[in-house]
Amino acid sequence: MKKTVLLLFILSVCYQCKKQPASPTGLVTEQAMVVSAREEASRIGSEIMQKGGNAFDAMVATEMALAVAYPFAGNLGGGGFMVYRKENGEIGGLDYREKAPLSAHKDMYLDSLGNVVPKMSTVGATAVGVPGTVAGVMEVHEKYGSLPLKDILQPVIKLAKRGVIVTEKQAKRLDSYKERFIEVNGDSTKFALGFKMGDTIKYPELANTLESILENGKDGFYKGEVAQKLATFIQDRGGFVTEEDLAKYEAKWRQPIVFNYKDLKVISMSPPSSGGVTINQILKMMEPYNVSSYGHNSLKTVQLFTEASRRAYADRNYFLGDPDFVDIPLDVLLSDSYLTKRMADFSFEKATLSSAVSHGMVDIVESRETTHYSIVDADGNAISATTTLNGGYGSKLYSEELGFFLNNEMDDFSAKPGVPNMFGLIGAEANSIAPEKRMLSSMTPTIVEKDGKLYMVVGTPGGSTIITAVVQTILNVYEFNLSMQDAVNAPRFHHQWLPDMVTFEEEGFSVDLKSQLESKGYKILEGRTPIIGKVDAIRVLSNGKLEGGADKRGDDTAIGF
Ligand code: GLY
Repeated sequence: MKKTVLLLFILSVCYQCKKQPASPTGLVTEQAMVVSAREEASRIGSEIMQKGGNAFDAMVATEMALAVAYPFAGNLGGGGFMVYRKENGEIGGLDYREKAPLSAHKDMYLDSLGNVVPKMSTVGATAVGVPGTVAGVMEVHEKYGSLPLKDILQPVIKLAKRGVIVTEKQAKRLDSYKERFIEVNGDSTKFALGFKMGDTIKYPELANTLESILENGKDGFYKGEVAQKLATFIQDRGGFVTEEDLAKYEAKWRQPIVFNYKDLKVISMSPPSSGGVTINQILKMMEPYNVSSYGHNSLKTVQLFTEASRRAYADRNYFLGDPDFVDIPLDVLLSDSYLTKRMADFSFEKATLSSAVSHGMVDIVESRETTHYSIVDADGNAISATTTLNGGYGSKLYSEELGFFLNNEMDDFSAKPGVPNMFGLIGAEANSIAPEKRMLSSMTPTIVEKDGKLYMVVGTPGGSTIITAVVQTILNVYEFNLSMQDAVNAPRFHHQWLPDMVTFEEEGFSVDLKSQLESKGYKILEGRTPIIGKVDAIRVLSNGKLEGGADKRGDDTAIGF
């Protein structure tokens, strides 16, 4: 009898241990936090909240500060997506994705023989889509902001004038891109100078552009002098964006994708981002399995995740595009019966070949150089936002007069269905080019609730790997009980249907694991592999405090109070 009681006690303690969420290992704050790719941007966002601003004010400040401090992906010349959850549970999504110019057409990147013209959609003015970021932040401020725009933009303008200190990682990046900057902009460009760690880069021209936005709001960018200079600059270099394109640009509010995974509620971005739909499919395909029992990054976890991703990416590439232009059968693609059927041929014994998957029987390669930031304010309002120029420094085209880089987002369309883009993603008709259409994205700003309360804010750069990095981070916390910081730092792997290859980050996966996978028919990308995502996230602890997860792969920093 005594023994039975003791056993029951031990079992109950073990059960409690398992249920205890991991202790935090990242920065913990009492009330509010911003996690972004640069300390300067996180600080400005956090200070805005300390001055009484809400998470939406902080979003405007952080997004603009990233354009100054992190021009690799932060931008005025690009676009992005934002998902929010207010403290009262109200949710929404904002699409400030770039769009194709009015003169765009399906075959604009093909030569007379119908072949894709190399570099035309990736480098220089011809690659530029109509930027959406300024419209996005102005829309957020108008609808949900609480502080005057002056209070939000002044610190950013000051930062642009004072300058930003070059970090070691940034110095390496600037150096590795230098020749490409010169190729596109000539050798008189600011970025031909070469910068080393500890140098300060000042952006007085960008400060002027921000002043114009401060004075005239959205019109300070999309109309008048800035718009005229921008359109002339792009067109003089052979690009397509006109003053009319700029004047017509509008950010769009969209209903996010919302689904349950076990006892979580996941809120993520809807098309024209593929992020929400694809993480919905992956997690729902994994849901019937006892994932936590397989172990973190174990053979079974890698297999299950890979097979769910293979099937989800095949659907992504075939069915998804701008919902204002294509009908996406979301009710079917996200239904339990469809996803169960999709996994019916999965077995732990043997890899499924991607050639055998294709897209589902329903009657549908990106850059890794995006950036993400997560925000929670003192009232519990949460913002998850991902923004990009597409490639690192976008098209590399830099307006010396206006002080910012222009995107190369036109490459996220499928220039020719069936031909991979710069990230190896093979697109279909749904994502073909049309005037004013938005190109498909993988950006996956996501917010997770547990028991009806805010649980996590998460997102990452990484092109096509964004989706897998976001799902793995959620699983790391929820299934494998890692702290937010450990979940973000943990090694990641990726599969995107085509090419039929599992990519592992260099550190953290054993030779034995890889050979077991190979023996089951998985193809593994050999040689040097890139990092997979650079996740910035926030977890709400059971005592209401916030834990930041600032990815160790970059200069990412959590700041709060
Ligand atoms: N350009 C990367 C993405 O939109 O997913």
